[in-house]
Amino acid sequence: MVFFAVSFTGVSLSDQVHQTPANMYKNPNETATLRCLHTISSYNRFLWYKQSQGGQLQLLGYMWGSRPTLEANVSATLDGNADENKNCTLTIEKLQQDSSAVYFCAASLHSVIYGSCSAQKPHHHI
Ligand SMILES: *[C@@H]1O[C@H](CO)[C@@H](O)[C@H](O)[C@H]1NC(C)=O
Ligand SMILES: *[C@@H]1O[C@H](CO)[C@@H](O)[C@H](O)[C@H]1NC(C)=O
Ligand SMILES: *[C@@H]1O[C@H](CO)[C@@H](O)[C@H](O)[C@H]1NC(C)=O
Repeated sequence: MVFFAVSFTGVSLSDQVHQTPANMYKNPNETATLRCLHTISSYNRFLWYKQSQGGQLQLLGYMWGSRPTLEANVSATLDGNADENKNCTLTIEKLQQDSSAVYFCAASLHSVIYGSCSAQKPHHHI
């Protein structure tokens, strides 16, 4: 039985931001790992967002170079590196029903953001 779904939308303003996998189905208490990579030279920051079923957008945290910062009360782990062509991963352990959401990342340099939320068109969201 599919109980829990993470959609990781691959749609963004820029084809220079790659998010994998696109969809993921997990059971409660399992671990989900989402990966982002961008190919924009000089960009060194990834912002990670979660969009819940109600449509609310939550900033989970960001990765600046190889330095992760999580928002308060976010139980996830950021790993890797936000530089060009490097993997940056978000790991969510012990998935709960309210973990079921659309997740996405955006590459940025200062306030410039590629793949802003308004450009996201989540699909297959359960
Ligand atoms: C998830 O883990 C908690 C603590 O280990 C356990 O009490 C709970 O029964 C588990 N839930 C499921 C659906 O396996
Ligand atoms: C974080 O969680 C604690 C305890 O659940 C709560 O009191 C606090 O308001 C939360 N803080 C934020 C920023 O959500
Ligand atoms: C990123 O991760 C993928 C999958 O684990 C791997 O195939 C790829 O080589 C990694 N890329 C870099 C730059 O580490």
